[in-house]
This record gives sequence, structure tokens and C-alpha cells, in this order.
Amino acid sequence: MATAIAEHGLKEKLESYKQDHILACLDLMPAAEQKALLEDLSEINFAQLAARYQTYLRSLSAGNGEKVFDTAEILAPPLSKNFFSLGEDYLREGKVGIFLVAGGQGTRLGFKGPKGCFPLSPVKSKSLFQLFSESIRALERRYGRRLCWYIMTSRENDAQTRSFFNDNQYFGLAPDHVFFLLQAELPSLDREGKLLLSRDRLVSKNPDGHGGALTAMNESGALQDMQEKGIEELFYFQVDNPLAKIADPLFIGAHAEHRAEMSTKVVEKTDPAERVGIIGKINGRMGCIEYSELTPAETAEKKADGTLRFASANIAIHMLKRSFIEKLTRDQGFALPCHIAVKDIECLAVQGGTLMPVTGRGIKFEMFIFDALGFAQRSVTMQVKREEEFSPVKNFDGVDSPQTAKRAMIQLFTQWLKNSGKAPPCPDDLVIEVSPLYALDEAEFRKNYTPPASFSSPLYLGP
Ligand code: UTP
Repeated sequence: MATAIAEHGLKEKLESYKQDHILACLDLMPAAEQKALLEDLSEINFAQLAARYQTYLRSLSAGNGEKVFDTAEILAPPLSKNFFSLGEDYLREGKVGIFLVAGGQGTRLGFKGPKGCFPLSPVKSKSLFQLFSESIRALERRYGRRLCWYIMTSRENDAQTRSFFNDNQYFGLAPDHVFFLLQAELPSLDREGKLLLSRDRLVSKNPDGHGGALTAMNESGALQDMQEKGIEELFYFQVDNPLAKIADPLFIGAHAEHRAEMSTKVVEKTDPAERVGIIGKINGRMGCIEYSELTPAETAEKKADGTLRFASANIAIHMLKRSFIEKLTRDQGFALPCHIAVKDIECLAVQGGTLMPVTGRGIKFEMFIFDALGFAQRSVTMQVKREEEFSPVKNFDGVDSPQTAKRAMIQLFTQWLKNSGKAPPCPDDLVIEVSPLYALDEAEFRKNYTPPASFSSPLYLGP
């Protein structure tokens, strides 16, 4: 092993960065495992890792630093009809790609498997991936062309995600228009800044956050693919929001009309206690103000009309100009800042002369996509209705859980039904599901809905 370590010049590096506890671990491993771990270690940028740990240490003592927060200019309804038709033109002309981030670990939901496979819809228990696929098929039908869907996965869920699509015949989408790309990982540390050994005897790492999407697009060839296909704009959304209006023409049009490089949809925050990021200005630059960064006074501050001042809640739906992503990722020195989360990490530790599985608190580093807002020269912040567009599945139960998301879907579809004026009085406990292939939005519902011969709950409308 000594030769192998010398070959990699690792001993000195591990010692100088105070990571030499790894040498003791290596001593306890058979040759094949040592080789794999050494290779893994040789890819680590130790200087960068040390800098990240310093960020963690600073975060323990610092408050907000010198950050000054302000509100962003909000584009709120009624919006110009021209935005909608411009967005539709972009879709018809094939200028829009769809980008889904689905690489997260979904720890809070506690579902075994990728979150996109979670059976969510209220009547048919369709998975999130199926719901999104049906929306994309409906858009393809409406705009008369195939759309390209880029799905970012992580090492932990890539194989399962791909098999899920394969086993389900891509839910009717053209497989050559679905592009999977793998996000990178960052090493986790214990709270003393030491590298951890994962259960598979490699360096313990975690996915690099949804902000990793930018480099993943570049390194996977997705950006190149977009350029070849004439895609100019990307619609970005998260896997946990079944109400996301995929490739909403209004949003696309508003973003394009303003020649924005990156735009965001927000909903109005009405409860000061809601733990949600606020799209606003940080030291004069657009960004997302995390709820923990505002003082209690700022969180509760009201405007003259009685609404909250910091009210534009980030729902993680963005438009990104391809040329903007290219500009950022092709700059060698570009990196989004690292955020820190202290979480339980399963790893191995030397105990009684062997490597034993343990779970301890450790530091995970992640990048967040909203930090790219600060690099955009122009940005649109568009306010939409929460009940129509946002109900994330984050937790196993309680707020933002499968139950609340199902309820939000039922409420939205019930509203469509009532507004159509063609339904009998709806029972209070109506359970209804409308497939995106039946109606993508309320206007389409109104057009397509013909009351069934007998109206009963649960009611499923779709193919
Ligand atoms: P969350 O911040 O909710 O994280 O992700 P999560 O990992 O899914 O869930 P928890 O925190 O472990 O419970 C928001 C979105 O960003 C994606 C997720 O898949 C989700 O769509 N994401 C998050 C990634 O694609 N990669 C990451 O590294 C993190």
C-alpha cells in the first residue's frame, strides 16, 4: 500500500490537510478496496475542501455578515396577453427545453427510491414522473412538436430512475427526447473537518445540490445538445411539486420579453412563520433570502396595505437562458457558493481495530440554483397563485407532505369543475383527478369537460 500512497503523493497531502486518520482506515482494508479508496482520494481537491470547512466554521459565529436585504420588483397579474402568445411561439418553434432536478436524497419524505417514483395522484396513484410525462405529452400535442426533457439524477438514484422510465415505456414520451444527466458529488466532513468513510468504503459524499445542475449540464453534454437542437431557453422545476405548470407560456413569454437571463416564479407568503426563501435583493443583487437570514422584525414587517414586505416566496421554478448558463459554466473561475447542512451521516469508523458502521452528525455541502440569480443581468420575478402552482412533497406527514399535495390537487380540479358551470353540486368529500392529457389548464378543462352519465366520487378524467 505504501507504494500506492506514494504514487498518488497522498501521504503528505493527507497529513498537511489533517486527514491522516484515513491512513489508519486504509491499513484495515484489503488491497482491492485500498486501491478504490486511493483513486477516490486522488480526485479530491483538498485546498477547496479546507476552504469549505472554513466556511462552515465562519457560519457558526457569523450572523448575516454585512448582508442588506431589499424586495424585488414583482410582476403580478393581470399580465399582458402578449407574454402568453410569445411563450407559445417559443414552444411552437422548439426554443424551449425542460429541465427537472431529481437528484435529491428525499430524506424527509423517507420513501425508498427516487422521489419522482412516489405514487401521488389522488385517484390513480400516478407517480410524479408519470404526471410530469403526461404534462409534457399534452404540451407536445398542443404545440405540435416534440419537447426535450433533461432530467438530473444523482449517483444514488440514477439507475433506479432510468429503469423506472424504461419499465414504464417512458410514459409515452419519445425516449430519444429524454436526456438523463448525472450531478456531481461533494465530500462530506465530520464537524471537526475530517473526511468520512462511506459504508461502501469510499470517501463519503453527497450530491452537490440543485445548483450542481449548471456544471452537470455543461459536463454531460446537455448544453451542447440544447445548442444543437436550437433550444434557447430552459424551463427549470423540481421533482417534488405536482402542481408545477411545466413550460408555462406566460412565464416563458414574460422572461423572453424582458430579455431576462434567469427568472423565478414566486407565491405570496402570508404567514410570517412560513419557512420559505424569499426572492429579493441581497446587497443590491437578486437572490434568495433564506428565512433564517431575516430578523424577526424583518420577517414580520408589513407594507402600508397590511401585506408582508418580504412576501415573494421562492417556489423553485425558473427560466434560464441557455447562453447565460454557457457564459457561467465556461468561465473557469465560476462557482456557486456552498451552503452547509449538518445532518446525520452513515459512515464507518475505526473501532477495536476494525471498521464499524456508525451514524454521526456531519457536514454536507451543497450549491443552490437560486444563487445564479445574482449573476443574471436581467431577471423577472413573477407572482402566481399558490393554490394553482405550488404544493411540494417534502415531508412524510404534516405540512408539505403527500397528504397536503393530494388535497391541493383535488381542490384545484374541483375548482375547475365548479367553474365549468357544467357539474352538479360537488360533494364536499369529492375526490377528483384530472390527467394533464385530459386538460392541462382550466381553459382546456372548460372546453373538454362533458359531464359523465352518472357523477360519483372518486372521479377520474383522463385516458
Ligand atoms: P430538496 O432541497 O427538497 O432536497 O430538493 P431533497 O434532497 O430532495 O430532500 P431532503 O432535503 O433530503 O428531504 C429540492 C429539489 O432539488 C433536487 C431534488 O431532487 C428536488 O427536486 N435536488 C436536491 C437535486 O436534484 N440534487 C441535490 O443535490 C439536491
